[in-house]
Amino acid sequence: MRTPSQSLLSWSALLCASGLLSSLFSVGVAVKENDFKKCHQSGFCKRNRDYADKAIAQGSSWQAPYKILPTEASFKNGLFHATILKSIDDKGSTVELPLTVSFHKSGTARVTIDEKQRQEKNIELRHNSQARKERYNEAETWAIVGGTTVDVDAKGSYSGDSGIKIQYGPNSTFEADIKYDPYSIEFKRDGYAQLKLNDRGLINLEHWRPKVEKPVAEEKKDDGENAEEKKEEFPAEPEGEDESTWWDETFGGNTDSKPRGPESVALDITFFGYDHVYGIPEHAGPLSLKETRGGDDAYTEPYRLYNSDVFEYILDSPMTLYGAIPLMQAHSKDSTVAVFWLNAAETWIDITKAKESKNPLALGKGPKIDTQTHWISEAGVMDLFIFLGPTPSDVSKAFGELTGTTAMPQEFSIGYHQCRWNYVSDDDVKEVDRKMDRHQIPYDVIWLDIEYTEEKKYFTWDKDMFKDPISMGQQLDAHGRKLVVIIDPHIKNIGSYPVIDELKANSLAIKNKEGRDFDGWCWPGSSMWIDCFNPSAIKWWKSLFKYNRFKGTMENTWLWNDMNEPSVFNGPEVTMPKDNLHYGSWEHRDVHNINGMTFHNATYQALLSRKKGELRRPFVLTRSFYAGSQRVGAMWTGDNQANWEHLGASIPMILNQGVSGFPFAGADVGGFFGNPEPELQSRWYQAGAFYPFFRGHAHIDARRREPYLLAEPYRTIVASALRLRYSLMPSWYTAFHQAHRDGSPIIRPMYWTHPSSEGGFSIDNQFFLGSTGILVKPVVSRGKTIEDIYIPDDEAYYNYFTYQQLPTKKGKTLKVDAPIESIPVLMRGGHIFPRRDIPRRSVQLMKFDDYTLIVVVSKDGTAEGQLYADDGDSFDYQKGEYIHRTFKLEGSKLTSTDAEGRDAKYIKRGDWLKNMQDVAVDKIIIVGAPSFWADKKEVKLETEGKQSIVKLEYIKGAANQGPFATVGRVGAKIGADWTIDFT
Ligand code: GLC
Repeated sequence: MRTPSQSLLSWSALLCASGLLSSLFSVGVAVKENDFKKCHQSGFCKRNRDYADKAIAQGSSWQAPYKILPTEASFKNGLFHATILKSIDDKGSTVELPLTVSFHKSGTARVTIDEKQRQEKNIELRHNSQARKERYNEAETWAIVGGTTVDVDAKGSYSGDSGIKIQYGPNSTFEADIKYDPYSIEFKRDGYAQLKLNDRGLINLEHWRPKVEKPVAEEKKDDGENAEEKKEEFPAEPEGEDESTWWDETFGGNTDSKPRGPESVALDITFFGYDHVYGIPEHAGPLSLKETRGGDDAYTEPYRLYNSDVFEYILDSPMTLYGAIPLMQAHSKDSTVAVFWLNAAETWIDITKAKESKNPLALGKGPKIDTQTHWISEAGVMDLFIFLGPTPSDVSKAFGELTGTTAMPQEFSIGYHQCRWNYVSDDDVKEVDRKMDRHQIPYDVIWLDIEYTEEKKYFTWDKDMFKDPISMGQQLDAHGRKLVVIIDPHIKNIGSYPVIDELKANSLAIKNKEGRDFDGWCWPGSSMWIDCFNPSAIKWWKSLFKYNRFKGTMENTWLWNDMNEPSVFNGPEVTMPKDNLHYGSWEHRDVHNINGMTFHNATYQALLSRKKGELRRPFVLTRSFYAGSQRVGAMWTGDNQANWEHLGASIPMILNQGVSGFPFAGADVGGFFGNPEPELQSRWYQAGAFYPFFRGHAHIDARRREPYLLAEPYRTIVASALRLRYSLMPSWYTAFHQAHRDGSPIIRPMYWTHPSSEGGFSIDNQFFLGSTGILVKPVVSRGKTIEDIYIPDDEAYYNYFTYQQLPTKKGKTLKVDAPIESIPVLMRGGHIFPRRDIPRRSVQLMKFDDYTLIVVVSKDGTAEGQLYADDGDSFDYQKGEYIHRTFKLEGSKLTSTDAEGRDAKYIKRGDWLKNMQDVAVDKIIIVGAPSFWADKKEVKLETEGKQSIVKLEYIKGAANQGPFATVGRVGAKIGADWTIDFT
């Protein structure tokens, strides 16, 4: 539970209270929605929505008071510079807003607008604030890692004094049409308008102005009769803007002092001819985003991005959750474009759809709908990137180039993780470990939640319960298993605790508005928060993780960062006051959505430097995130509930993470709060087996639910789901590698894999695993035994388990039997994917096992796929120490060649590659093998200059099985070229 008072209870006291709490869960406690702001309670959101309403009400007579001065505009070497003048009254007064539009070699464009007066620090802060005067412009230092090399070949042509058109991108097929008065930019591809900034004239940068104190009318003592008279003596609300939330703002008993006054930035962006928009996680709702101001099934609130510890979140809601990635993709048949709103402050996004498109391209084909969006952020410069596609994978790639791609993971981390709040002692951990083995349930990692510490003092152990952490670590290590321990960003503010002493002595904590160390409440009670924006704080944080400092940890200990929104139990909206101060004197308001990423990053850096010379890929799980967090770890969707609805909601949420550049994502399997019935738990493991991050987790009041505790048949059902995950590990690892290389999602929604197949654009409960052609639709409803799977194309589809070809039809749904013991999984023709079929206890123990290849023949008799493998632990892959194969079935030949055309002779061989030398392709299963193979008994294998004969067996298939062929034992080395001839 997340309440300050409860956070003070000891673990044992919590256990005693658990009976009471679990009865609370059974009646369904939900998030206190009122603890979090609605748009009308967030001053700047309300002001901008009101502004939009006024503008829209004026129809075509509305003109945004923003224009570019032609005399000061210049375009040179891929950069357009100008000043936008914002008119602020009828007397001709203006404020200057410097504008830069840059065009990049990567094909993206960037539009940045600042405010001159704040840039020059020519403003007065109120309340003696020590905050910075400028608009926050450092989000890029955290989020952006590449893709911004300017394209000096971009060509500009002026249209007199009215604007400029700039051609850029691949073969100059992209165009930015900048209009001066009023300011707007339309982006085109191949001559067709795709999206427009300030299309509806809603741009708004709240410029700095001094507070004008209003005369306060003298108060008269006049209750009763004269009350009416008194009211009239107070001036009515002044004409013009509503200033009521300009200078301070109170919510839930907390007052934000707002020393810089109003400073929001807002812009409308219209996507022409696009009827679907995706992205802007994290929300618990459908993948295809809903309208927020009218329309069918619309939300009434804008989507909000303000990283929050939303306890027991509600579903189908635009309410903010733990993380934020302000990337939105718009998609219509055969076309995808996107915008990335680089802002770290509280942000709201309204979405509406206009029935008549202005895009001529939309007239003949595709929808006639424009999706209109309105982006509203509290502070910072206005800074956005535009991607013109044209495919979803182009957008993923360009976004990956810009913000980085998912890190190559520790291989164990894509195995199964066993967690709960809490494993109570080192003996408890050892016992769970033994029982998993006894029941032959594979797993890789066991987790320790906050109770392992001494009174929530991180970097310590509860000495009574964890007497010998090293022997615990060693037992795990004996089977290649790992331990993850939690470390949160709040540091207990108590005497005789070196960590807090050092934090204070070195002034590394986040400060309150007066510049003193901010103290708030979290799990440990009174706490302070490390400020990871400060390089010195990162340096210090690194020192805490050294093996000789964080005693009891070993090489197989990894990390979990939670509560990094940050969660502050007694703060406004369960987080930090916005007028708190960070390193560089930035207000918390400026950086809030990036805060979680900076902490996660510090822990990642710390794990890189635990010991001199030990260079291993860190594993760190985070709850809060921003664009860029994918470079340093995995995320999960926070505190969900053990019910069917939350199981269902997890899939669109994880898919959304994937298309938003952070694909290493999962949800608490089984549901965090409450106790899943066995059917739900089983279905959740079946779904979880296809989450990129696969962890069972439970609240402290939930009953124990390690998979071996399940009665039959559920225990076997869960164990089979886990084994399926483990056998597919080589395919998962290959999919991670692809995500690492090009930003693609690991599990992929229909619109992403089949951008032409319109029937799939709003489907968010089925997905493909990487490029394996494996299509999964987890069952997420009680008692359901038949699933409808949407088939996006004309290819052949087979049942994963029976190899039966299914009677599919493009654009139609297929009914698949899904009794409780089975997962609806299909294989699409035309793919080859690798497996390791020997059941083992952990990923590490599978490291040098032979492979099985599954060849799924397409309608035209071909198939293709990949395997990527490396040591799964070090950075040696960056030096070329990896195996990357392409398998191809063409004509009568199946071949394996280096996917990158590397010559084996020149690959430097370290220990891992040497060990891999004996690893072979053991078996090949050909699904959809042609019937004329029925009499074939053998095939020819050619590898490493030698020819041999390998056995082929053609199996016709019983009633409930399709025909297939097996080839084996093949014995061809996995790293070598080989050809199998089926003639
Ligand atoms: C938060 C986390 C949850 C964790 C708990 C205790 O609620 O989301 O996963 O178990 O804190 O650390």
